[in-house]
Amino acid sequence: MTSSDLFARAVRVMPGGNTRSTLYIPPVPPYAASGEGAVVRDVDGHEVLDLHGNYTALVHGNGHPVIGAAVSTALADGACFGLPTRHDVALAERICARVPAVERVRFTTSGSEAVMMALRTARAFTGRTTVLRFAGSYHGNYDGVLDLGARGLTPGAASELLTVPVGDGKAFAAAVTAARGDLAAVILDLMPNRAGLRPLDPAFVALVRDVTATHDVLLVVDEVITLRLGVGGMQERYGLRPDLVTMGKVIGGGLAVGAWGGREDVMAVLDPREPGALAHAGTFSANPLSAAAGTAALDLLDEPTIARLNAYGDDLRKRVAALGYAVSGSGSLFRLLDLNGAADWWRLYRGGLLVGGNGLCALSTVMGTDTVDELERRFAAARGPG
Ligand SMILES: Cc1ncc(COP(=O)(O)O)c(C=O)c1O
Repeated sequence: MTSSDLFARAVRVMPGGNTRSTLYIPPVPPYAASGEGAVVRDVDGHEVLDLHGNYTALVHGNGHPVIGAAVSTALADGACFGLPTRHDVALAERICARVPAVERVRFTTSGSEAVMMALRTARAFTGRTTVLRFAGSYHGNYDGVLDLGARGLTPGAASELLTVPVGDGKAFAAAVTAARGDLAAVILDLMPNRAGLRPLDPAFVALVRDVTATHDVLLVVDEVITLRLGVGGMQERYGLRPDLVTMGKVIGGGLAVGAWGGREDVMAVLDPREPGALAHAGTFSANPLSAAAGTAALDLLDEPTIARLNAYGDDLRKRVAALGYAVSGSGSLFRLLDLNGAADWWRLYRGGLLVGGNGLCALSTVMGTDTVDELERRFAAARGPG
């Protein structure tokens, strides 16, 4: 069965043959067959080096044996239960131990749901409604954080959201001061991918922390992509202690996951022992397979491993820039800024490189210096002569 055969079937059952807008590659996307380590193979027999990692989730590459064994062991006990399991406790312990701001945590099945629940938690805690986000930041599928022009949004969703340019301290402070009686939370991504994947200026981040603290507005830091950059996430580089943190991707070891957590007193609004607690369910929240995979993945992602991975990323980014690509990012995450549509994506793919449709790239811990050399060679070849 080729990609064309699969796509011909897909268009008869899914709109445009697609179920995930971010994986739409015209005219016919290659369909994955299998992956091993840093390599992904498609159903047409083409092999590529995986810089996509399912939009940065696969920090240990494809089919890592330790994560696979953890999932198999959990599955042998049963896929999921109508009872909590030891697996969610173990993953929660790992996250709380790594991220000091996360004193209590809860799980979801995606980063989008984690963002939705973090903002609902902030509203429940403060009794206020409005949320402030920064222009160009992507926080997932939740209505409450989408660009105001997005189709299908209700006027209500738009009226509860303020959008301020990222990096503009004056505009931010003015917006918070004006809205402070209504403002429940500010949501911040320290290196917003869709705004160009550039680390925010530490002075701006410090100002955001100060202004939110002054007005008792909760600061939610979205680390769904950036958590992999440090044991305690990217916030650790900024010496930042947010009130709430949203997470996803690497904390599921390649399985569906999301989590939000933060201050004990804020997260206490979810304590079911208290009357009137904020309810949060989810049939597959903290499911044993994701939790077991995530625990194994975090155990493999220790400080020296992260330092090595970030160093490879910094090295590769420099080498790729020297080849004439416009690149941004930090550590193991980078973005090709001049990837211009499907033709560019296909040139890289045919040259053996799998990158995000928007140019987002992520290294994985199974890559060594030889992989970095090979990646550079492939980027050079894809650039073509001259
Ligand atoms: C910063 C950020 N927040 C939230 C999300 C949503 O996560 P998910 O795709 O797991 O719903 C994403 C997804 O890429 C993201 O990049």
